[in-house]
Amino acid sequence: MVNRNDFRSAMGRFATGVTVVTTLDEAGEVHGMTANSFTSVCLEPPAILVCVAHNAHTYNYVEDKGTFGVNILGTDQLPVGQYFARKPEERTQEIDWTYSTSADGVPMLDGSMVSMACRVLGSHVYGDHTIYVGCVEEMSLGEHAAPLLFYESRWNTSVPANE
Ligand SMILES: Cc1cc2nc3c(=O)[nH]c(=O)nc-3n(C[C@H](O)[C@H](O)[C@H](O)COP(=O)(O)O)c2cc1C
Repeated sequence: MVNRNDFRSAMGRFATGVTVVTTLDEAGEVHGMTANSFTSVCLEPPAILVCVAHNAHTYNYVEDKGTFGVNILGTDQLPVGQYFARKPEERTQEIDWTYSTSADGVPMLDGSMVSMACRVLGSHVYGDHTIYVGCVEEMSLGEHAAPLLFYESRWNTSVPANE
């Protein structure tokens, strides 16, 4: 069995983009969670996946609604990524974020590189996470921005936008 800390370090060497998974809470308010476990699954149907920890509030909201948004962040959204990575009770500072709603009522963060409204196609529980496969039912492509990255536990804003 590999050592837990070694495994964590190894995974940190996989550079990723950063998304915020958006849902609605029990009061119908928009809720977000920073996530980098996002990846595409297939083109037909257009499907993606994201892994959600069972101790995240987002888990209960996705279970409840069966839908979620995925928003791919640009470098100018660094504060948004940092904000939604905190526990809700620690999201005390004011940051600028607004949202629009898909035809199906899924919240999508304005100003994202891409926002997708997804319906849960299937899920798989493994350990303390659930892998959700979502069918992308609606999508908006934002301005061509530079992608926000995460690598070795650090935010990285140094990748320029493609022309
Ligand atoms: C860069 C980054 C990526 C993350 N990716 C995930 C992820 O894929 N799945 C997850 O469950 N938590 C992930 N987290 C942790 C959550 O963002 C964090 O636990 C958050 O507070 C959960 O919010 P919630 O309890 O309101 O849902 C990530 C954190 C960071 C900083």
